[in-house]
Amino acid sequence: MKRIFILSMLSLLILAATAKTDPLRFQAQGESLELTMPDGQKVRYTAYTGIRYVTNVEDTTYQTLNFFVPEGATQKSPILLRTYVGGYMAATAKMPSSTDATGRALQEGLCVCIPGSRGNNSEQDGRFTGKAPRGLLDLKAAVRYLRYNDKRMAGSAERIITDGTSAGGAMSALLGATANHPDYEPYLSQMGAAKAKDNVFASVCYCPITDLDHADMAYEWTYLYQREDAEAVRPIARQFDQYIDQLALRHPTTGELLTSENYMDYVRSYLVASAQRFVNEGGQIPDSLGFEFLTVMPPTPPARPGGPRYVRAKPQRTDIVTDVDMEKYLTYVASRQALKPTPAFDTLSSPECGVFGDAEGTPAHFTGSGLSADLQQRVRMMNPMNYIADPKAATAPHWYIRHGAIDRDTSFPVAINLATRLMNEGRDVDFLLPWNRPHQGDYNLDDLFRWIRDVTK
Ligand code: DHB
Repeated sequence: MKRIFILSMLSLLILAATAKTDPLRFQAQGESLELTMPDGQKVRYTAYTGIRYVTNVEDTTYQTLNFFVPEGATQKSPILLRTYVGGYMAATAKMPSSTDATGRALQEGLCVCIPGSRGNNSEQDGRFTGKAPRGLLDLKAAVRYLRYNDKRMAGSAERIITDGTSAGGAMSALLGATANHPDYEPYLSQMGAAKAKDNVFASVCYCPITDLDHADMAYEWTYLYQREDAEAVRPIARQFDQYIDQLALRHPTTGELLTSENYMDYVRSYLVASAQRFVNEGGQIPDSLGFEFLTVMPPTPPARPGGPRYVRAKPQRTDIVTDVDMEKYLTYVASRQALKPTPAFDTLSSPECGVFGDAEGTPAHFTGSGLSADLQQRVRMMNPMNYIADPKAATAPHWYIRHGAIDRDTSFPVAINLATRLMNEGRDVDFLLPWNRPHQGDYNLDDLFRWIRDVTK
């Protein structure tokens, strides 16, 4: 009896010692909290905050994560991992909000992880520690932490759904596209990330500012005729023709090769579909936006004795959107918010040049010739398009991508190409350009959670 007691005490001590020596083992103390939702419902949850997800912490402000478990969650509940990265800046680990997807996720019974991550502005002792791809690596390390501790934490790390907007949408796309790829491995092990995989189940990407190394050409190609001096920007726009031809994307329904010849029609089809959904919901589109509708001839009324011998029938407009005059529509988009000046992204004052800058904080160009091998690799690692078809990456099976139909922060082809490449690689992609939406995220949460329920059921 005494022997058994001593032995079990000993194993308890050993267990306690390993927990102490493993700093990445989840052992946070939870706090019970409550969130009041817009509909008045109170959602009770446990908050675990300030968790370090790497062992070689360079930045104590940003390299932590918060984890939230709603009442009733199980080991099987999906986990929404929401990043608040914006403008490629650092983001702190936040608390859930009743007005975005985090609060709604708790209400729907999902666990929520909000990791902080370094960014353009992260500075420690006069050195910038968050230049690309550091912010992404932090987020990957947070995913690894969840997977490493899956058994010890509520929720299922096999069902992580990443969510972000704009630069955060780009981060979400990168988490979904680049998982487990060896390119990131040396950095993650140097950071002391948990020894685990970082693949995720699904990625929600609102207006991702991504494919940065082709974003300028796509922008000028799209808005060529909205530019004051189209001749001056035409050479940049023509580079996009080459890019599209080289991407060799296929039309997701017809399988037709997308080329610089037919690509504008492809973009147009997404705008027509956007307008059609709006009209189906009862919306009215003014003629000035450039949309065309199917017209039909009304049936000829039967001739009345003594009446006019024939009535001249007028064609009637139906609710079926057939086409859009791209020049008119793009001019409308640019009238809602002025376009970015040329070049839109690779200009030294941009957040993108900032995040590709060096540890001294000097911004760097990230396109064109003459980039160092190191910078080329950093740019490559920040573009999900490079990894989606790479068998060494474990690309997420499910995607929800939205880019507003009046969002001019990046051009439509950026989101369209991301969605198309994913569809071409057999991923399940729910992709739309929502009507009249500017540069925004976490809207239409009913639709988002309809989709989340669908993919996680
Ligand atoms: C964001 C917006 C931009 O226009 C951009 O170039 C980069 C980031 C943002 O809102 O995150």
